[in-house]
Amino acid sequence: METIAPHGGVLVNREVAGAERDALVARAATLPVITLDERQMSDLEMIAIGAFSPLTGFMGQADYTRVVEEMRLANGLPWTIPVTLAVSSDVAASIEPGTEVALADPAGRILAVMTVEDRFTYDKANECEKVYRTTDEAHPGVAAVLAQGDVFLGGPVSLVNRPANPEFPEYRLDPAAVRAAFAERGWRTIVAFQTRNPIHRAHEYLQKCAMETVDGLLLHPLVGATKSDDVSADVRMECYKVILDKYYPGDRTLLAVNPANMRYAGPREAIFHALIRKNYGCTHFIVGRDHAGVGNYYGTFDAHHIFREFTPEEIGIAPMFFDHAFFCRVCGGMASVKTCPHGKENHVFLSGTKVREMLQAGEVPPSEFTREEVARILIGAMRDAAAAQA
Ligand code: ADX
Repeated sequence: METIAPHGGVLVNREVAGAERDALVARAATLPVITLDERQMSDLEMIAIGAFSPLTGFMGQADYTRVVEEMRLANGLPWTIPVTLAVSSDVAASIEPGTEVALADPAGRILAVMTVEDRFTYDKANECEKVYRTTDEAHPGVAAVLAQGDVFLGGPVSLVNRPANPEFPEYRLDPAAVRAAFAERGWRTIVAFQTRNPIHRAHEYLQKCAMETVDGLLLHPLVGATKSDDVSADVRMECYKVILDKYYPGDRTLLAVNPANMRYAGPREAIFHALIRKNYGCTHFIVGRDHAGVGNYYGTFDAHHIFREFTPEEIGIAPMFFDHAFFCRVCGGMASVKTCPHGKENHVFLSGTKVREMLQAGEVPPSEFTREEVARILIGAMRDAAAAQA
């Protein structure tokens, strides 16, 4: 059955197997080793499984520069977020372009071999200003750039081992597996939902509005690194499972995890999130209010506006834009600014801080804001965390 083409036309697979893998593992033992952190391991995995197609490795200078300056790869394809391997100047000095390096996890287990094609310095402030629209160190994406090494190594990777002990193994479906699952179900149009939060009523409303017009929903929570005050992925997974089980038709939804890190790059990350889901075979992508935002760095709908800077054909996956959603007491249901004529005083609105306070006090927020089953899981998790700290 016809499915949407991956970005750039070919689903990348940089994982080696069999004799090729054996040979590479043997060679890796003789190579200089670069130890990856959690974020770099996640990027490596995303490249290897094809979630970052057409990337076959960490970016070299031509791709990096054009991505930062023009939101395109050197070949012209839209791409908004640098995918780079930063190392210290000391490490970089010992690695000549044209040679191979082994990429290892912090325990020293070899994950991949990389052919270093490029070694270059970069301007951190410029990257932050262009990608994150700020150089404020309080921005978690900016903080990550400032903390990383001063030199990038670029080049193709070959994965020999996946990162050890992955969380949620049964939900860790590669793009090829997700595409196969869609084909098996006979879905032609699939909407993807990115989230780093528990699903509250507003999220559910967006998903279900979209589900009315497509064959299926891929609930695709991001489970790579997030900022420390975001709800942890294992707690969120419990919330997703309970809500899918009770309130969604099982034959029209698929839950799988997205192993990427959160960048909090707002509009640029909305494009990035959409392209990743295109690689997973989705035809539609939900972009709501302040997508991938943090603090007040982005306008509420900047993540919608940025899609205008590309043609629909070159993005491929169709964005589905949603305005701010809420429960309206007068409408007697979920609505948005686009469908509800009533004033704000009729809308159930709770700030993130307020919700956290309620949950911490063991109080279930109004059912118009979140389903009780979700609230109970969050309250339980907060109690456990508090008990563990005491
Ligand atoms: S994000 O960082 O992954 O974007 P979150 O998990 O909160 O954060 O949001 C997932 C998606 O739901 C995003 O597209 C976001 O814009 C959208 N969204 C969240 N809350 C609302 C809301 N109240 N109204 C409209 N869209 C929303």
